[in-house]
Amino acid sequence: MFQYVLHCFGDDDCVKILRRCKEAIPARDAGGKVIIINMVIGSGSQRDIFKETQVLFDLYMMYIDGVEREEKEWENIFSKAGFSAYKIMPILGFLSIIEVYP
Ligand SMILES: C[S@@+](CC[C@H](N)C(=O)[O-])C[C@H]1O[C@@H](n2cnc3c(N)ncnc32)[C@H](O)[C@@H]1O
Repeated sequence: MFQYVLHCFGDDDCVKILRRCKEAIPARDAGGKVIIINMVIGSGSQRDIFKETQVLFDLYMMYIDGVEREEKEWENIFSKAGFSAYKIMPILGFLSIIEVYP
């Protein structure tokens, strides 16, 4: 599980990290998955209170030279890392839980 971590890394490093995860976890039918808690731009609550927090996160991303991603960008990373499917659950305010399956 990666919580607030992958947005610290560029796409190529995310692919490397997730490839290693895929090597380490069981097959999907045996319960294997990677859980990511991060922002998915365009998903999540649009309530003003969360938009304000999102702006603070944007400042944090500038500070750490990080990146928040849209679904297409996440999908591209998961596919390059060799994963077959994913599910985005936008249930944590402006954050989402993403399950990624081998
Ligand atoms: C915002 S913190 C999240 C920590 C924890 N997962 C949590 O939810 O409280 C981001 C974490 O990523 C780690 N991190 C960022 N860039 C890293 C790198 N290049 N190598 C290893 N760890 C890194 C930081 O040290 C930090 O612990």
